[in-house]
Amino acid sequence: MTTKKIFIFGMIVFSHLLSFSQQKDPTEKKIDELLSKMTLDEKIGQMNQLTGLGLSDDMVSSIRGGKVGSILNEIDAKTVNKLQRIAVEETRLGIPLVFARDVIHGFKTIFPIPLGQAASWNPQVAENGARVAAIEASAAGIRWTFAPMIDVSRDPRWGRIAESCGEDPYLTSVIGAAMIKGFQGNDLSSQTSMAACAKHFAAYGASESGKDYNTTWIPELQLREVYFPPFEAAIKANAATFMCSFNDINGVPSSGSKFLNYDVLRKEWKYDGVLVSDWESIGQMIPHGFSADLKDAALIAANAYVDMDMMSFAYINYLKDLVNSGNVSEAIVDDAVRNILRLKFRLGLFDNPYTPEYDELPFYTDDALQKAKHAAIESAVLLKNDKNVLPLNGVKTVAVVGPLLDSQADQLGTWCFDGEPAHSVTPLTAIKKEYGKKYNIVAEKGLTYSRDKSAEGIKKAVEAAQKADVVVAFVGEESVLSGEARSRADISLPGAQGELISALKATGKPVVMVVMAGRPLTIGNEVSTADAVLFSFHGGIMAGPALADLIFGEAVPSGKLPVTIPRMVGQIPVYYAHKNTGRPANNIDLIDDIPVGALQTSIGFTSYHLDAGDKPLFPFGFGLSYATFDYSDVRLSKNTISGNETLTVECDVTNSGKIDAQEVVQLYIRDKVGSLVRPVRELKDFQKITLKSGETKTVKFELTNEQLAFWNADKVKRAEAGEFQVWVSTDSQSGTPVSFWYK
Ligand code: GLC
Repeated sequence: MTTKKIFIFGMIVFSHLLSFSQQKDPTEKKIDELLSKMTLDEKIGQMNQLTGLGLSDDMVSSIRGGKVGSILNEIDAKTVNKLQRIAVEETRLGIPLVFARDVIHGFKTIFPIPLGQAASWNPQVAENGARVAAIEASAAGIRWTFAPMIDVSRDPRWGRIAESCGEDPYLTSVIGAAMIKGFQGNDLSSQTSMAACAKHFAAYGASESGKDYNTTWIPELQLREVYFPPFEAAIKANAATFMCSFNDINGVPSSGSKFLNYDVLRKEWKYDGVLVSDWESIGQMIPHGFSADLKDAALIAANAYVDMDMMSFAYINYLKDLVNSGNVSEAIVDDAVRNILRLKFRLGLFDNPYTPEYDELPFYTDDALQKAKHAAIESAVLLKNDKNVLPLNGVKTVAVVGPLLDSQADQLGTWCFDGEPAHSVTPLTAIKKEYGKKYNIVAEKGLTYSRDKSAEGIKKAVEAAQKADVVVAFVGEESVLSGEARSRADISLPGAQGELISALKATGKPVVMVVMAGRPLTIGNEVSTADAVLFSFHGGIMAGPALADLIFGEAVPSGKLPVTIPRMVGQIPVYYAHKNTGRPANNIDLIDDIPVGALQTSIGFTSYHLDAGDKPLFPFGFGLSYATFDYSDVRLSKNTISGNETLTVECDVTNSGKIDAQEVVQLYIRDKVGSLVRPVRELKDFQKITLKSGETKTVKFELTNEQLAFWNADKVKRAEAGEFQVWVSTDSQSGTPVSFWYK
């Protein structure tokens, strides 16, 4: 082919490519056409989100006047359709509303709290829960949920740790992405799909002292290393929306942060979804001391690219003036409205704005309940099992006691607005129903709620224990003690539950302690006292049947901690991916071991607490089984990798126990020397495998330079040459490392 012909051919190909690239996505063309017709008032109306007031005159007139783009907390399909009909049929442009709700871990069929789902280390569990929630909530007209909450949380004093996926960026990324997939389904425009919302952007989990809404002070590199990755993963999972966080970061409230909401979210990450404020978070920039008044807050938030104002009334009252006075460019308003219209097009609301009105709502189906039970089983973490007390066998009479034994509401946990306790199956109900014929069950709550301090209650529980061969105590937290604005400075078992466990043990009977809580608790004394400990978080509507099966052996625990359990609150923050310091702990002399009159220089000078040592009560990734697992030496495909080469890591895992069981095999690395100090371990992958008794499987992982990379002092993310260690282990503290080099 002559040069001339090649040139002509090349030009033809180029012009086709050019025209293709300019052929806008049809949705983008529709958005542009619609936007071009909108008045400034209509644009600002789309940026206003209000909480549901039914068919009140105010709401009806606001919609009819084009002053509302979205409504949250309306959960009746008929009412939703009536409000939608006003928007679609009685406004000039007929732009549909999008209806939203906090559907965090279930709508009617309540799954374990997200921290519990993360303890399953099974993305399928999280996806199933979100899918069930989407099917149920969308039937009520809800097409946008404010979940998953993917704030990395390393402070169990913080009540919202219950809503998180724990302390690790990678595990949070995997579980969060699975929830997004479940909520949004394979087709966001399906009427059984809901837009997910990656929240709270960003670093809300770092609230100082674990006190909710508190300030955070985080270097940008730590933001990028710890708090951003789950949000980047959410974008990869096509999360349709993001939400601002309440906290300020280094003095800038997230709702006013151009760095977060434009520089990172839009320019760097190229995100094209909706960014909604948190509830009144724009207006809260006034008490933050970042805005002088609501108009100033509207100015700051709009110029920080917050698309939608949830309940501050800042945009609807002041944005038009701010645009007309030139303080906010209409281009910013257009960008926000484009994002909002894009969400509504992607949800299919322009084609199908109305919710089917079912005679029988798809709530509590057998499939949903079974998935909720399975989730609760996989979310429970076995922390101790001396003398294999569990699963119960060879006993006749079982005493079941404790304030969480039969509390339908508390086991649902926090953030379950629409859960109905009447549908919640408690441990007592399940044990009586499923095991009451085979065992003699003696039931006595003793303490009647988690904060109960009554000695009389303890006495009753002890009397029940004295009649039994074994005692199972269901303790923990009422659901009201966890969640938003429910931070605790003392995270021990509330009330007299600690005394209850001691009194039960004093009977001489084996004591099994089942903990149902919204956070890790400082249960060191109770763990020492009890013979077995099962930590089940708040396990949801089917917690009872799940725990019954685990206790009596119909199911086998497979959960692993998604968050460290501290010995005492003074250790916080305590997490596995900590730095080594220049004086890592050794030769630990605990406070009670120090001789009287000891000289200042007579005990060590290394990094630990005199009264706690340097280890938590239980580490991240820890969890026992009714089986036992043996790990062989880790094998590497090579000792050195460079560039984009992949390192294969293998390890044989054997079920040396007597029953079939699941194990979460975890892959950690350590970068021995970096241009910045690196954590002693970082989770990079995991596999939850099933092994028959006696079975061995070779578990294989692949490591690439991307997983070795970190944000260095030049704010560049890259892997640095040098020695790395790799573990394949059953938790973040065990295993023997093997070294390899990256060139
Ligand atoms: C709350 C929460 C947020 C929730 C929103 C709407 O205050 O911070 O997570 O989605 O308001 O209920």
